Amino acid sequence: ASSPSQGAAKDWQKIGTVADLDKTGQLLVPNSPVGAVLVVGTSKAAKNLIAVNPTCTHQGCTVAWKTDKNQFVCPCHDAKFARDGKVQAAPAEKPLRTYLAKIENDSVFVKP
Ligand code: FES
Repeated sequence: ASSPSQGAAKDWQKIGTVADLDKTGQLLVPNSPVGAVLVVGTSKAAKNLIAVNPTCTHQGCTVAWKTDKNQFVCPCHDAKFARDGKVQAAPAEKPLRTYLAKIENDSVFVKP
């Protein structure tokens, strides 16, 4: 029998404000209730928000979102990931973890 996981955030978690997201179109929160999270988008296109754990699956650097390329790029060894987290360029082999994201009442929420 499996016991309920303790303290693991499974529901929608508030990770920041819409004002902060809209400033740059990106919101990086290293220590949210679900762990590190990077939300990309703005409230103007709330349906298109994307959210990932930006910890590179190669050796753990923090990937950056490149709007012009429409992908996440790791500054350490140049691994690339699609907006859905899938690997597009080595050396990473595993996808980025993704989250659901939404905006509600001036706050940004993510859900594992
Ligand atoms: Fe990201 Fe190596 S840590 S490519």
